[in-house]
Amino acid sequence: MSGNGPEGLEVPEARDMEALGAALALCLRGGERIYLEGVLGAGKTTLVRGLLRALGWQEAVRSPTYTLVESYALEAFPLHHFDLYRLADPSELEYLGVREYFSPPAVCLVEWPAHGARELPPADLRLELEVTGNGRVVYRRQASDRGQSLWDCLIQNLRKVRNLQCE
Ligand SMILES: Nc1ncnc2c1ncn2[C@@H]1O[C@H](COP(=O)(O)OP(=O)(O)OP(=O)(O)O)[C@@H](O)[C@H]1O
Ligand SMILES: [Mg+2]
Repeated sequence: MSGNGPEGLEVPEARDMEALGAALALCLRGGERIYLEGVLGAGKTTLVRGLLRALGWQEAVRSPTYTLVESYALEAFPLHHFDLYRLADPSELEYLGVREYFSPPAVCLVEWPAHGARELPPADLRLELEVTGNGRVVYRRQASDRGQSLWDCLIQNLRKVRNLQCE
């Protein structure tokens, strides 16, 4: 995994995407909102799987494609993983009780956030996963101050992992 320009991270394989998720997991303190964009099969759920594994979740990590949300009672904080691909209308989020889900210290990760439109609160960090041949590139698309710190922390953690591998 390597840097690709100022904001892009090259992610050659699925296990590297899991490693990226794990590196991001170490930066979470509770209350973060991270939105994941990218086409079907871009690797959004793979990233979340790596993130959950790093936070100690040992059971299955299922894609919330049909359930819209899967929730995890982690030791550190609750984590909600949304996939809004099948949301027919953004207003459905209100019936789902989206405000409750987004209450700190819960961490929320959202796939297909555009389908939730304005019913979703603003993201701290918005990542775009782009498919490039067999690999992926992850771009930081938008970030609040908190999101920028998250991104910086993610990069630092990835560097540490790379250094370890080189030793
Ligand atoms: N570099 C890579 N990073 C992530 N996934 C990869 C990579 N290379 C191949 N893959 C494969 O691509 C697929 C990604 O699937 P995943 O379910 O994570 O995508 P998704 O973005 O969540 O899709 P959807 O929008 O349908 O939910 C997996 O089968 C994974 O093994
Ligand atoms: Mg998915």
